Amino acid sequence: MTMLKVRGLKGGYGGGRLIVDGVDLDVEAGEIVTIIGQNGAGKSTILKSLFNMAPVREGEVLLDGQDIFQVSPFRMLTVGLAYIPQHHSVFPKLTIAENLRMGGYLLKDQKLLQERTDRVEEMFPILKERRGEFAASLSGGEQRMLEIARTLIMDPKVVMLDEPSIGLAPKMVDLVFSTARRLAEAGKAILMVEQNVKRALEASDRGYVLELGQVRIKDSASALIADERVSRLYMGVRG
Ligand SMILES: Nc1ncnc2c1ncn2[C@@H]1O[C@H](COP(=O)(O)OP(=O)(O)OP(=O)(O)O)[C@@H](O)[C@H]1O
Ligand SMILES: [Mg+2]
Repeated sequence: MTMLKVRGLKGGYGGGRLIVDGVDLDVEAGEIVTIIGQNGAGKSTILKSLFNMAPVREGEVLLDGQDIFQVSPFRMLTVGLAYIPQHHSVFPKLTIAENLRMGGYLLKDQKLLQERTDRVEEMFPILKERRGEFAASLSGGEQRMLEIARTLIMDPKVVMLDEPSIGLAPKMVDLVFSTARRLAEAGKAILMVEQNVKRALEASDRGYVLELGQVRIKDSASALIADERVSRLYMGVRG
């Protein structure tokens, strides 16, 4: 089932230059799809445009069949779209438990909030064990997990991750990608943007190669890994 369907997406920051210039993409429930491309290709701008955070944007964005193009960023989580930006966004001086509850600020029903929080804590035992500690005490990878866990309180259908592995030690990269896989296995549609091309594709089902704001190649992750153009341009292999 197509959870995220994007057609003719354009986005930019004004001044007449389009950073995202007509992108089509689809993400099915249960799959991980990764967008790769060089610095400045417009990867982050795609996610911002989808989340209604780019000043200039047009196109069609359907989430589980529902048109969400005009939904405000504050309400996106309530319609099922979660976005974890590139820069860390945990509240360092709040506890892990408090950070998790912040993910449910849009939930009025306190009983439901408690149920959802319990369920998410069951999924992430590290967060549960350390729930009373400051978020600042977590490692970079664990903070990423907390950011992901926090968005799950709203039970999103689609989760967008911008550079989830950036700055993390290899073990933590594994942890973050395996977390993404668990979410996919739970039926969520995952859209990632990654610089760590090889590892990200290995963790994905499909991928899109973005150049100058347009999709140049679209294929299964294994085909992209085997593609000589991809290895030459994005995986540091000389052709
Ligand atoms: N807030 C902004 N205002 C103006 N221009 C911006 C803004 N953010 C990004 N840009 C420009 O948009 C282009 C694409 O940026 P974007 O962040 O989408 O690229 P990216 O593919 O995510 O790159 P990276 O791999 O470096 O994260 C760049 O030329 C950048 O300078
Ligand atoms: Mg970026």
